[in-house]
Amino acid sequence: MQKLSQRLSVVVLFLSILFAPIRTTIAADFKREVIYQIITDRFFDGSSSNNNPSQSSGLYDSTQANWRLYWGGDLAGIQQKMSYLAGLGVTAIWISPPVDNLNTNIPDGNGNPTAAYHGYQARDFKRIEEHFGNTSNTWTDFDNLVTAAHQNGIKVIIDFAPNHSTQNNAGEYGALYDNGTFLGNFSNDTNGYFHHNANISGSGWDDRYQVQYYTLFDLADIDQENSTMDGYLKAAAQLFQQHGVDGFRIDAVKHVNWGWEYSFANSIYTYGDSFLFGEWYQGNTSDPLYHDSYKFANKSGISLLDFPLNTAIRNVFGSNSNFSDIDSVISTEGSNFTWKEDLVTFIDNHDMSRFLSLNNNNNRLHEALAFTLTSRGIPCIYYGTEQYLHNDTGGGTDPYNRPMMTNFSTTTTAYQLVNKLSTLRHSNPAIPYGSMGQRWINNDVYIYERKFFGNVVLIAINKNETTGYSISGLNTSLPAADYSDYLTGLLGGSSITVSTGSGGNNPVTTFTLPAHTVAVWQATDTATTPQIGSIGPTSGQPGVKTVIAGKNFGSTTGTVKFGTTTATVNSWTSTQITVTTPSVTNGNYNVTVTTSGSQVSNGIQYTVLTAKLIPVTFTVNNASPTQVGDYIFLTGNTVELSNWSTTWDAAVGPMLTPNYPNWFLVASVPAGQTIQFKFIKIAANGAVTWEAGSNHTYTVPSSGTGFVNVNWQY
Ligand code: NOJ
Ligand code: NOJ
Repeated sequence: MQKLSQRLSVVVLFLSILFAPIRTTIAADFKREVIYQIITDRFFDGSSSNNNPSQSSGLYDSTQANWRLYWGGDLAGIQQKMSYLAGLGVTAIWISPPVDNLNTNIPDGNGNPTAAYHGYQARDFKRIEEHFGNTSNTWTDFDNLVTAAHQNGIKVIIDFAPNHSTQNNAGEYGALYDNGTFLGNFSNDTNGYFHHNANISGSGWDDRYQVQYYTLFDLADIDQENSTMDGYLKAAAQLFQQHGVDGFRIDAVKHVNWGWEYSFANSIYTYGDSFLFGEWYQGNTSDPLYHDSYKFANKSGISLLDFPLNTAIRNVFGSNSNFSDIDSVISTEGSNFTWKEDLVTFIDNHDMSRFLSLNNNNNRLHEALAFTLTSRGIPCIYYGTEQYLHNDTGGGTDPYNRPMMTNFSTTTTAYQLVNKLSTLRHSNPAIPYGSMGQRWINNDVYIYERKFFGNVVLIAINKNETTGYSISGLNTSLPAADYSDYLTGLLGGSSITVSTGSGGNNPVTTFTLPAHTVAVWQATDTATTPQIGSIGPTSGQPGVKTVIAGKNFGSTTGTVKFGTTTATVNSWTSTQITVTTPSVTNGNYNVTVTTSGSQVSNGIQYTVLTAKLIPVTFTVNNASPTQVGDYIFLTGNTVELSNWSTTWDAAVGPMLTPNYPNWFLVASVPAGQTIQFKFIKIAANGAVTWEAGSNHTYTVPSSGTGFVNVNWQY
């Protein structure tokens, strides 16, 4: 007879297995992943029992004639296609928002019913939409999907839309529920859960204040500074982490309060490793808010979808612009984004015409796909691309860019291409971690090289449909040897011969690159020194875990140092190490890996925060007079406040001035700490004016949100 304590420990063991996190993979290094974007409603109908649920009946169109109603795709459907996805070579799926959405029909301008089949009108961030899961809005189907994905080596990213709930002037009038309990709505907003400003319009799209605080397309605009909303959204994200998600695509990241999002990201990373990227829509690198976008990406812990590169890809492969368009975006972004290898790159998505609607040419689609899969950044493929899915009605834009997936062939050229290049991303670290340099270019041909230490991939694309080019004078870092095409001729490539040159420039024997060809040549190095390619998250307070990825770390545990301080190692493989941020003074640290054999790696930057981040609204009244182009910024005594920096890129801001000459902004600052700060004016020419007097001080709350209101000291 067992002792009671023994029996209890068996029960505890059993329970802990039962409730162990479903997650089996480490999410933070996403550079090795290939993402596949799915609109759940339009992928595959795995269960008919949820097609027309009673709480929202009438939103389903079994004939699939009304493009703005539910068509039956669901989480079970994605689960059933898991081996198709694994065979494609995608290693992460980004699914449209799975949370409980608007239950009512809102007629469009012509009186036709519409529904939130796309998921961007949440009513309850803590339950699963009945059309996607089951009619009780429970997590069962979601959990089954996550389990199946992880069993197939596929990570799960959910689309999360913290900017808004449902439409503010119809339907459910923005009503929000917390796991079924009514919280409030927009039309009777007694708790101040929402902003009540007009729609963003006209020049407002370029105005930092309107973009964040005005309304996006009549959608009830959540006030994340309201402590109930702050807690609700962070708890909902954490709930998804508990259910095993590996990452978040943050919808409309430019329209959510930027300063709050730093604390949102920190809240997620404090709970567990994850990968975050946001939708910061912009046409190109001349966008008025482009500078704000990379400052945000460099500091917030949230990477971005690479919209400027998307525009260039569509112009070059879709509309026949010169390759210089792509080359210049790559180099401009390369000098602006600190974590450029984390930018998520794409050809098309659910908000623009599919590539084949733009240019109905499969060669060009293959070239664009090969470019996305081999160039700098994490590639994201829109569902159906591998089946040449498109519907060109109305130019093929929303909603016609969201057809039902009909074919699941595993033999298309596009399917094979994705599979091969996904394999390369895992086998050669130059693709996920390497630099990207142009080696040869004309209007039709782009030859570029990815390089990470001695690991090299050389890619050549000729997008001309009829003309081959003789390529002479090409140099590469590939060592002298003959190289066969990694794609084995799938897109027309053949072999090259490289001979010995000097200074990293080995000449390639002149060869012909035929019309519409992509060729890929590659080599990995034999060095044994440890090579760090990635750290993620890139910031965290002591105690937060971060993942270091790369090559040659060895199978025996060595040491990881933040500056000179040794950190606790939680797990160690030859390519991936998890460490706990040590208790060191806040600031930027160079992180290095030392192998058990005493070999030391390159360093990578990591920011040690002071404490968990709390969003605080700072207001300064009657600030120093400004001229056009001058802005007020916040600076202060911790790394979160830039350690008294006075430059546009480092100080916190620019602040916003809907009530000039009063300025405000939200900054995420360390919980429970007494901070010192001041406001400064940075003039258009960079000249800095400090406010007078002694530093302001403020003790940041240990939870919730905070508010500071002071006068500029003259
Ligand atoms: C951007 C999404 O990608 C789009 O599809 C959606 O309608 C808006 N954000 C609003 O959530
Ligand atoms: C950190 C990124 O994780 C890594 O991939 C990159 O090489 C370096 N930053 C330099 O940009």
